Amino acid sequence: MTQRKGIILAGGTGSRLWPITMGVSKQLLPLYDKPMIYYPLTVLMLADLRDIAIITTPEDQDQFRRLLGDGSQWGLRFTWIEQPRPEGLAQAYILAERFLDGAPSAMALGDNVFFGHGLPELLAAADARVTGGTVFGYRVADPERYGVVDFDAAGQVRAIVEKPAVPPSNHAVTGLYFLDGTAPARAARLRPSARGELEIATLLDSYLQEGSLQVQTMGRGYAWLDTGTHESLLDAGNFVRTLQARQGLQIGCPEEIAFSRGWIDRAALERQIARLEKSAYGRYLRALYG
Ligand code: TTP
Repeated sequence: MTQRKGIILAGGTGSRLWPITMGVSKQLLPLYDKPMIYYPLTVLMLADLRDIAIITTPEDQDQFRRLLGDGSQWGLRFTWIEQPRPEGLAQAYILAERFLDGAPSAMALGDNVFFGHGLPELLAAADARVTGGTVFGYRVADPERYGVVDFDAAGQVRAIVEKPAVPPSNHAVTGLYFLDGTAPARAARLRPSARGELEIATLLDSYLQEGSLQVQTMGRGYAWLDTGTHESLLDAGNFVRTLQARQGLQIGCPEEIAFSRGWIDRAALERQIARLEKSAYGRYLRALYG
């Protein structure tokens, strides 16, 4: 069985965050004390994925590379892919076809933040389903901003509707998609929508029609935050700050996950701490591991 691979989609225009994102990619902005992309990256790490493609715009890729390197500092392997224009989430699978090479994947949007007890187990269950796909439904107050799950009377998923004017439910589909190795071929068959994008909802629909899409609900014990607007960016940062200050534990810390899983040894961790020690982030790692 081919090992599942990770994808982080970190392109886009970030136009709702202008003027901030006119000079820097959204996914490089700070979410409190670390770059936004650390949060989806660590979700993929918690799903036990170490071979990860990072998709960025051509203009921003150098900055991402400066921050993240080749991944070896965390026991990971990064493949860098450019998306020339933001032509839709489903396009990621076409761009990543060679990287995936038939493997199943988990794709995280570079601006999505997940937090909750039991997240690794939820991810492991999605990973264990090797055929078809798994996405996560999460209750939100403003579903019209997202892809929304349409349930029938028996609670079965009938459709996923992109940004509906009249949402069929309050359950949005989060930006984390576990799909099998057929995703690139399915994406290649899509036609651009009215807004000129290859829609992830249409790609998911091809699985749904075959009865091979699992919509797993993430209950109210989880936090799924998005960071696409000024308010939500600040809210997400405050959420991270509040929890970290209360617990004394970091959310989204790649060094911690890599070391605890044995992906990097003591010497590699030391090198990271030595680089970071002037910051509270580095001092956290020092305090944790001595
Ligand atoms: P969006 O938030 O829908 O788009 P955006 O980031 O360009 O922002 P805005 O609406 O403010 O212009 O995108 C969700 C995530 O997917 C985000 O991390 C950017 C990424 N993305 C791509 O990388 N490529 C794409 O073609 C699209 C549509 C989004």
